[in-house]
Amino acid sequence: MTFEERIVSGESEDGVEITIEKSLRPQTLAQYIGQDKVKKELTIYIEAAKNREEALDHVLLYGPPGLGKTTMAMVIANEMQVGIRTTSGPAIEKAGDLVALLNELEAGDVLFIDEIHRMPRMVEEMLYSAMEDFFVDIIVGQGPSAHPVHFPLPPFTLIGATTRAGLLSAPLRDRFGIVSHMEYYPVKDLKEIVIRSADVFQTKINDTGAHEIARRSRGTPRIANRLLKRVRDYAQVEGEGEVSQRMADEALALLRVDQEGLDYVDQKMMTTMIELYRGGPVGLSTIAANIGEETETVEDMYEPYLLQMGFLQRTPRGRIVTPLGYEHLGYSYPTEKI
Ligand SMILES: Nc1ncnc2c1ncn2[C@@H]1O[C@H](COP(=O)(O)OP(=O)(O)O)[C@@H](O)[C@H]1O
Ligand SMILES: [Mg+2]
Repeated sequence: MTFEERIVSGESEDGVEITIEKSLRPQTLAQYIGQDKVKKELTIYIEAAKNREEALDHVLLYGPPGLGKTTMAMVIANEMQVGIRTTSGPAIEKAGDLVALLNELEAGDVLFIDEIHRMPRMVEEMLYSAMEDFFVDIIVGQGPSAHPVHFPLPPFTLIGATTRAGLLSAPLRDRFGIVSHMEYYPVKDLKEIVIRSADVFQTKINDTGAHEIARRSRGTPRIANRLLKRVRDYAQVEGEGEVSQRMADEALALLRVDQEGLDYVDQKMMTTMIELYRGGPVGLSTIAANIGEETETVEDMYEPYLLQMGFLQRTPRGRIVTPLGYEHLGYSYPTEKI
């Protein structure tokens, strides 16, 4: 294909985007920025498993979306020098789907199940013996001719990802030998990620520009990369192409990302709590209904960062906006609450 065709063809454009997305993902533990505790543990377990020429123990990665769980699963397979099959909990609808996936595994391979808390019960139960003793018992045939078949599996590594470990049933959680909690990234790590991504995009960026984007990315690499793309566009059209503090400030203002990285939905959520519910306590489902989001989305995507920032607090009767939250949104804290 010629260069000109690639530029005008929508399909190749997609190809280019996918390639960029891929190269944004670090390939090795050494390239993987931050999450030092998780990395240190995994480095040891991977080396030990490799020395014994065994499959790595099953790994559960949990933490808010966008922190690098999928990336880490790929890094693990790469470091183990094994193949990886990727699926997600909701995609495995019946026991047969799981058997088909397991059937394709070679000794030592990784099976990555994203959103593992959303597997159907039947599938989950079948996974127990697969994880523990590397076999599944399946029923073959129907009616009177139905009979169980014992189906041995090669030793493999299951890597599960979920937003909260508490969403998993205890029997499933207990079958993971390695459980790693991914944490929000400090600004210094996000800054490193932004600089690395800018390099992948071949975009010029200066130190304060990278810092500004990192600071407003809610501790989340996916958001950092997304903001970087938008600031890059802005700098290309409105500036000289270099991502600087001023370009970041202006572009983020346009995107309505505020000084602490709260976006329009976060702001609306907290304003609603203040204006309609006098700062709470408000139930999570009420908050979700008010901003037109699923309860689960609010709980997984919006709330954790607001809690971490100290803008919201959980109480037994619901969520409340803290004095800091009032102040951040420019409201004065009601005197009757003090
Ligand atoms: N530690 C990291 N270093 C560099 N980039 C990262 C890191 N963690 C995540 N990313 C980038 O952030 C994006 C989201 O990561 P992903 O693994 O898809 O998150 P999750 O699966 O937890 O939702 C990807 O583009 C990835 O390249
Ligand atoms: Mg993922």
